[in-house]
Amino acid sequence: MAAGKGTRMKSALPKVLHRLAGEPLLQHVLLAAADLGAARTVVVTGHGAEAVEAAFADDGLVFVRQSPQLGTGHAVQQTVPALDEANPTTLILNGDVPLIRSATAAAVADACGGRRLALLTIDLDDPSGYGRIVRSGDERGGHVVGIVEHKDCSPRQLAIREVYTGMMAAPTAWLRRAVMALGNDNAQREYYLTDIVAMAVSEGLPVVAAHASDETEVLGVNSPRQLADLERRLQRRRAEALMEAGVRMADPARFDLRGELACGSDVEIDVGVVFEGRVVLGDGVRVGAHCVLRDCEVAEGAVIHPFCHLEGAKVGADARIGPYARLRPGADLGAEVHIGNFVEVKNSTLAAGAKANHLAYLGDATVGERVNYGAGSITANYDGANKHRTVIGADAHIGSNCVLVAPVSIGAGATIGGGSTVTADAPAGKLTLGRGRQVTIEGWTRPVKVKRGA
Ligand code: UD1
Ligand code: MG
Repeated sequence: MAAGKGTRMKSALPKVLHRLAGEPLLQHVLLAAADLGAARTVVVTGHGAEAVEAAFADDGLVFVRQSPQLGTGHAVQQTVPALDEANPTTLILNGDVPLIRSATAAAVADACGGRRLALLTIDLDDPSGYGRIVRSGDERGGHVVGIVEHKDCSPRQLAIREVYTGMMAAPTAWLRRAVMALGNDNAQREYYLTDIVAMAVSEGLPVVAAHASDETEVLGVNSPRQLADLERRLQRRRAEALMEAGVRMADPARFDLRGELACGSDVEIDVGVVFEGRVVLGDGVRVGAHCVLRDCEVAEGAVIHPFCHLEGAKVGADARIGPYARLRPGADLGAEVHIGNFVEVKNSTLAAGAKANHLAYLGDATVGERVNYGAGSITANYDGANKHRTVIGADAHIGSNCVLVAPVSIGAGATIGGGSTVTADAPAGKLTLGRGRQVTIEGWTRPVKVKRGA
C-alpha cells in the first residue's frame, strides 16, 4: 500500500519515494517481498502515482491506482482484480514501514498458510495512533477478536499496548470477498482494512497473531523526524553487521552505507565516512574521517586519508590517497600509487608506484610505473569539443606547474622542466622544456613614487 499522501512529510515528493539509506522507502519494502519469492507483487498507488510508478517501472510489479484514497480497506479493494487465487496467501505490507525483515514477513505468510488470517502485532510502551489488538477475555492468551483503531477506542481499549503493525497475511480467495464487504461506519469515515479481523472471527476463519520482537522492524515513516530516526536505526544495523564480521569502526553512530560494502579482514573506518553504490575494501584498508566512496574498489593495504571523494575508482594495493583527493570515474590506480592533497584524477590509469602528490589534474591519461607528476601540473585534455589522451612513459619526471596539451606523449624516463607547456611529444630519456627563457635586464631600475608637493 503506497497511495497515502504523507501529509506530515510536508513535501512535494510522495512519501514512499523519500530515501532511506539512499533508496526509496518503497524499495526497502519491495526487497523484503522479493526475498520471500512472491509470485506477484501488487503496488497500490494514488498520491503521486505517476512518480511512484515511474520510479519502479522496470521491476515487474503490478500497479493499481486508488483515487480518492478512502482508507486501507479501500486500498486493498483496488487490488482485488489483480489478486490471483492460484496464490493461496496474500501478504499485505505498508509502503511506509521500510525496515521489516524478510524473515518476519515470511513468518507471517507461513502463519497464514492460505488457511488463517495472520497479523503481525507488537507491544508498544506508547501505542497511541495505532490500531489496538482486542482479545477475548482480559488475558494475553485470549483469542484475537478484532482490531480497533485509536480514534475508535473506548478508554479501556486505549490502555491496550498490543498493536497492529500494519502487516497481515490472508487467504487470497477469502480476502477478495472480505474487503469488498467492508463499510466505513467509523470515526474517520474510512474503509478500514483492519475490520476484516472481526469478519474473520464471525465467519470462523482462524485468526493468529505473530509477534514482532524488534520495534525497529515495524516503525512507520510519517515525518522527517521519523525518517531520520529510521535512518540511524538502519545504519546502526548495518554497522553492527560489519563489526560482527570484524570491521573496526571509530564510531558506528557516524557511519553511513547507502548501498553495499564488502570488507576484507582488518579494515578500519574512521568517523563520518559515507559509502554509496557498491564498494569493496580489501584486507587492511584504512579509510580516514569524512570520506565519500561511491562504486569503488580499494585493494589490500591501501590508505585513504581524510576528506577524500572517490567515485568509480580502483585503488591498488598499498596505495596512499589524500587527504583531500578526488578520484573520478575511470581512475585506475596501481599498487603503491600516491595521490596527494588537491589532486584530481579522471579516466586515467596510473601504473604501480606513480606519484602525484600535490595540486594536480590527470584526465584521460595513461601514466607509467614510478612516474613523478609534479605539483600544479595538469593535462589539458579538452579542446572545447573533444577529449584527448596523454601518455606518460615509465619513470618520467614531470616538473611542477606543467601543462601537457593532449594528445601528447612523454617518453619513458623523460624529464619535463617545471613550468613547461608541452604541445609536442617529448622524447624518452631527455630533458624537454617548453617555456620562455629566463632573462635578466641589466640597468633596469624599479619605479619610485613621485611625492606630492615635492
Ligand atoms: C494503519 C492501521 C492501524 C495500524 C497502523 C500501523 C488501518 C485502518 N489502520 O493505520 O491499525 O496500527 O497502520 O502503522 O489499516 N494507504 C493507502 N490508501 C489509503 C490509506 C492508506 O494506500 O487510502 C496506505 C498508506 O500509504 C500507508 C498504509 O496504507 O502505506 C497505512 O496507512 P496509514 O494512513 O498510515 O494508516 P494508519 O492510520 O497509520
Ligand atoms: Mg501510518
